Amino acid sequence: MTNEALKELLNDLSLEEKVGQLIQVSADTLVEGGIVTGPTGSLELNAEQVALVGSVLGKAGAKALREIQDKQMAAQPHHIPMLFMYDVINGFQTIFPIALGLGATFSPEMVETVAEVSAKEATASGLHVTFSPMVDTVRDARWGRVMESTGEDPYLNGLLAKAWIKGYQGNDNDVRKEGKIAACFKHFAAYGAPEGGRDYDNVELSERTLREDYLPGYQACIEAGCKMGMTSFNTINRIPSSGNKWLMRDVLRDEMKFDGIMISDYSAVEEMIKHSFAKDPRDAAKLAMDAGVDIDMVSRAYVQHLAKLVRDGEVDEKLVDEAVWRVLVLKNELGLFENPYKDGDEEKEKLITLCEEFRTKAKEVAAGSFVLVQNKEEILPLAKKEKIAVIGPYAMSHDLHGSWSFPNNPELQISVEQGVKELLGSDADVTFCQGSYCMDPEEQTKYGVKEERTGARCEENEAFYAKEEAWLEEAVSAAAKADKVVMCLGEHNLHTGEGASKVDIRLSDCQMTLLRKVQEVNKNIVTLIFTGRPLELREVEKYSKAVMVVWLPGTEGGSAIAEVLYGAMRPQGRLPMSFPVSVGQEPIYYNHFMTGRPNDTGRRVGYISGYIDETCKPLHPFGYGLTYGKVTYSKVTLSSEKMTSTASLTASVTVTNEGVHPATETVQLYLRDVTGSVIRPVRALKGVKKVDLMPGESKEVAFEITEPMLRFYDINMNYVSEAGEEIAYIGSDAETENGASFTFEG
Ligand code: BGC
Repeated sequence: MTNEALKELLNDLSLEEKVGQLIQVSADTLVEGGIVTGPTGSLELNAEQVALVGSVLGKAGAKALREIQDKQMAAQPHHIPMLFMYDVINGFQTIFPIALGLGATFSPEMVETVAEVSAKEATASGLHVTFSPMVDTVRDARWGRVMESTGEDPYLNGLLAKAWIKGYQGNDNDVRKEGKIAACFKHFAAYGAPEGGRDYDNVELSERTLREDYLPGYQACIEAGCKMGMTSFNTINRIPSSGNKWLMRDVLRDEMKFDGIMISDYSAVEEMIKHSFAKDPRDAAKLAMDAGVDIDMVSRAYVQHLAKLVRDGEVDEKLVDEAVWRVLVLKNELGLFENPYKDGDEEKEKLITLCEEFRTKAKEVAAGSFVLVQNKEEILPLAKKEKIAVIGPYAMSHDLHGSWSFPNNPELQISVEQGVKELLGSDADVTFCQGSYCMDPEEQTKYGVKEERTGARCEENEAFYAKEEAWLEEAVSAAAKADKVVMCLGEHNLHTGEGASKVDIRLSDCQMTLLRKVQEVNKNIVTLIFTGRPLELREVEKYSKAVMVVWLPGTEGGSAIAEVLYGAMRPQGRLPMSFPVSVGQEPIYYNHFMTGRPNDTGRRVGYISGYIDETCKPLHPFGYGLTYGKVTYSKVTLSSEKMTSTASLTASVTVTNEGVHPATETVQLYLRDVTGSVIRPVRALKGVKKVDLMPGESKEVAFEITEPMLRFYDINMNYVSEAGEEIAYIGSDAETENGASFTFEG
């Protein structure tokens, strides 16, 4: 449709029709079934309001969406097509590792692949918009939603954010093209910094920290052409995001130049009442419209009050028109006025969903996300002739997709057992044992988990205990007979994701009991950690020769694990968040600030910053990860000891694989600004390069350092660089001491 025709359409709409375009309902309002991702409760819609609704979330499937579209378009007076939105987060039916695992790949290429495959599957299933990527900076492992982010570093988040958008929307952002989907960055802003890691909680950040560490991820999405953004549940500066005019109109629209649609998070507009910011739903509608929320996701505010507010002269109709215009523009960009189903096609859906090509990609990306954090005596890779016992609640589990993926058939996720059997064939000497439940008893009672044991020991659930005792006995006996043991331990799916904040980030007691018993009979332990967040792994590492964090690895998780365990693929992931020694260190992140009494050594002594009962260093820092090779770094060399705004310099190292296995090394550049008009982080990531190295091979890796890389918000809040001393560190993680100084002359 031409812009003129679109404008005519807008002019022709009644006020109620306009408001309809700004309403999003969950699928159950229109049909049975659908994914429910927030609190349920009636929006009190009448039939006329339902007919005018402009978008729906949580329903997929080419056939179902075609039926909904036909029905809704017939009822809508101007036959305006609906937008179908869905949380396609780490894959749609072919599931990839959770976003934190994708952060661990440090690879924009892999993230782009994930987004590309997701877009193809989701659009064939009739979808138009995905609520992804989440680009919130996350620094507190207690927060359950760290699993949805690519981690603690703004540079890495920005790098990967661009790749997400490119994969979803294509190089030219022409989302009308087949297989392309409109992306939605979230959650604007700083949802990743809730106090105490408690989901939905207040955020206290200085404007400087907000701008420097939290906004870059969203900015990268905007620069990449992202079509939509979502508000966040939290407050900033005591104002809920969905009612924050400064945040959305001054910062997002004027400064950051976002011209796409802003949608509220699920019922966030109405939740401003509970925040004690809005008096009632009518007030909430006014505040949100004034602040710049275009679409109200699942709340009564706009649908019940916006038209009346305009008629009463309390909301300017111009604001409503602007919001509706943005919605119509996206519908037009997606080509929905010509083809309201877009790529939704049952035949295609069957053909491409979980096809071989996508599964192969899922395996490669999963392997790329695994982070080997310990490998004593080079116990890994395993040899095929060894007798192995694979033990633990994740040994045979298909539940590997994370809390934000909704595969039609979870059984199609490849378990570790399947992956290993497939790789080794029938003559392998490998046994598989459950060993323990995943969740502890009290927890199971709380969550009503049926398959696991329920509550304290009593006659009623004697069978559950008996089963666990039998599992334990079987596992210990298998471990005693094996050359090596692979423990498959981790967080329960219900312990990670939205609303799943925790103060205890250790493995469950029942899994630790299992590990302790197994290590009594066999010391050759390789432990795989399935998780959505950094965990306390100190005790696990004590009992294990190797530990590999495999996140929630998705559809091909089991096959990727098998190939990495046996050396057919190599681990190459790096930690996208610091792993703490103890939960008491949270939030813990590498790019913190110097104090007047810094604790450079991590020592536990008085009168310096830190703790008297624990080190202040993480167990493993950001960027850390091993490979099967043994990679060494030469000293950093600089092309010059001085640089200026116009003359960049090059910092380089030579990396060498001194081991016997091929390796993929993730070389990282960090910069430290030694003094500034405001204090500067101890260092900040500024570049990443991945290099493949055969045994004995050396490669030079060079980074160009340019003036924009030195900018920050100075004492007057101007984004500038300042003359002075800088240090360039190049190494394999955020704690590298391999650095060289230079002077920036301005
Ligand atoms: C989450 C969003 C999600 C939305 C729709 C909310 O609860 O915070 O991330 O996109 O639900 O499912």
